[in-house]
Amino acid sequence: MSRIQQDRPTLSVSTHPIVRVLVGRLRCKETGVAAFRHLVSELTGLLLVEALDDLPLVDEPVTTPLGPAVSQRLAQPVVFVPILRAGLGMSEAASRMLPEAAICHVGLYRDEQTLRPVTYYDRLPRTGLEESVTVLLDPMLATGGTATAAIDLVRQHGARDVRFVGLIGAPEGVAALHDAHPTVAIVLAALDERLTTTDDPFPPGYILPGLGDAGDRQFGTA
Ligand code: URA
Repeated sequence: MSRIQQDRPTLSVSTHPIVRVLVGRLRCKETGVAAFRHLVSELTGLLLVEALDDLPLVDEPVTTPLGPAVSQRLAQPVVFVPILRAGLGMSEAASRMLPEAAICHVGLYRDEQTLRPVTYYDRLPRTGLEESVTVLLDPMLATGGTATAAIDLVRQHGARDVRFVGLIGAPEGVAALHDAHPTVAIVLAALDERLTTTDDPFPPGYILPGLGDAGDRQFGTA
C-alpha cells in the first residue's frame, strides 16, 4: 500500500489508488464541509490499517456456531491522540476501527512571544502509556512544530511506541518531526511540495498545494 521514502525510513506515503482518489477529492476547493469530513474519516481508516499493520497479536479461543476456533486479539492497548482542533475529524474513524481504544485529546498553540508550543489541553492518561501503542492524529504535518511538541508530551507521559498519522505533509514538517523523533513512524496519504512563504500570495506556513485550512474545512469556519 505504501512507498517507504529511502531517505526517511520511518516515513510511509500511501500509493494506494483509492487513497490517491480520495486525497484528490479532499484537496478540491469545491468539496463542501460534509463531504470533506467524510473524506477525512475514510482516509484516516485506510491510513490506520497501514500504520498499525505490525501490531503484535495473541491467540485466544473463540467458539463459533460449529465449535472451537482460535482467534486473535491485540497484545497491547492502542491509544489515539487527536491534536485539537483539526485532528478531531480523524478520531471518529479511529474509534470505529478500535472502539476499545482510548481517545485522549491534546491541544497546543504557539506562543507569539516565545514562539514555543504551549499545551492548553491534555487528557493523556497518567499511567499505562508505556505499554500502549500511541497514535497521534493530525491531518496536516506542516512545520512539524505542533506534532513534535505533542510527541514530546506523550513521551513525557511515558509513551514508547509512538506513531503519527496525517493526511498531507510538507517536506519541512517531515524533516522537523523526523529530526526530533527519529523512531516515530510517520504515515501520510500525500507528501506535498513545500510550505508557503511570505513570497507566496497565501499566508505563510500553509502546505502547497495542500487543501487549505483543514480545521476550517471540517468545521465550516472559513
Ligand atoms: N494547517 C492546515 O490546516 N493547512 C495547512 O496547509 C497547514 C497547516
